[in-house]
Amino acid sequence: MMSLHQRQQQPKPLADAYPLSPRAASYGFFPQRTMSFFGRTGLLALLALLVLLGVFLPWTGPMEGLFFSSTNREQYLSRWRDYTLAQAAAFVAKNGTVIVCAVSQPYLPFLNNWLISIARQRHQDKVLVIAEDYATLYKVNQKWPGHAVLIPPAPDAQTAHKFGSQGFFNFTSRRPRHLLHILELGYNVMYNDVDMVWLADPFPYLEGNHDVYFTDDMAAMKPLNHPHDLPPPGKKGRTYICSCMIFLRPTKGAKEVMKKWIDELQEQPWSKKRKANDQPAFNWALNKTAGQILELSHYVSIVA
Ligand SMILES: *[C@@H]1O[C@H](CO)[C@@H](O)[C@H](O)[C@H]1NC(C)=O
Ligand SMILES: *[C@@H]1O[C@H](CO)[C@@H](O)[C@H](O)[C@H]1NC(C)=O
Ligand SMILES: *[C@@H]1O[C@H](CO)[C@@H](O)[C@H](O)[C@H]1NC(C)=O
Repeated sequence: MMSLHQRQQQPKPLADAYPLSPRAASYGFFPQRTMSFFGRTGLLALLALLVLLGVFLPWTGPMEGLFFSSTNREQYLSRWRDYTLAQAAAFVAKNGTVIVCAVSQPYLPFLNNWLISIARQRHQDKVLVIAEDYATLYKVNQKWPGHAVLIPPAPDAQTAHKFGSQGFFNFTSRRPRHLLHILELGYNVMYNDVDMVWLADPFPYLEGNHDVYFTDDMAAMKPLNHPHDLPPPGKKGRTYICSCMIFLRPTKGAKEVMKKWIDELQEQPWSKKRKANDQPAFNWALNKTAGQILELSHYVSIVA
């Protein structure tokens, strides 16, 4: 949703309206033959279907069917309520990897869609939902015990939802802290916004031993063997790397980027005039860490 709003604010070329945008096809994450195999119409249809599922089916529907249906809910609620991030990550991690998103209650239908798409690629076991309110924590753990954690303090639910607001900024500012914490626990972490769906398994495309893998909002088509540098800065002096899908290995370099992201957010706090979100700060963090320590790799999200 965050990125969705943002994209409405920055109209992009027509091709971006397709789920496999130039961004998506450009960084070799999603092979071109797959693109022609599906075709744009097919992808659009699939996307439309997923959106419809999320919008019209009640939250309980697909979730219940796909995952766990609990019979003793109270027991689960109390069991997971005080789970720490370390406990939760240890519970879900597979092969040292966790897939995380951060969600508040109004975004549960998006979470549902996203989870369905991940389950299709059989990676749902690694998913940890960082619940940004207690309602979300309970809802997810009720249906899918142990897969949601709340890292206190919960942001104010009334103010955290509106894109561009200070509450929203505060909410998204928690993201790099959560990610840094997971890296410090020693896990690889795949972060996703939930306004996307996976049309393929991203993991085989995370090649090499890079610290950070991310997606570029501005890219034209690039060959699979594109260089691993940051793209050149855009009009605002920075790049348009999307903070919507990030894969990090628990390396010094990746932790450095997260720390820089946190610093940048503090140095350029939210103001009425700028109505920032956390993405510019992520781009500056990449800019400032790129030269010294990082081996970067772009990859492509299968973003809706
Ligand atoms: C863990 O990694 C091994 C080797 O790469 C792979 O065969 C296996 O499927 C992975 N397991 C999970 C749960 O992802
Ligand atoms: C956002 O965070 C700042 C700094 O911590 C705080 O002063 C402010 O009240 C918060 N605003 C909202 C709406 O959450
Ligand atoms: C960082 O941003 C500055 C200002 O736009 C630019 O001159 C520089 O090339 C950027 N550095 C990298 C590594 O992209």
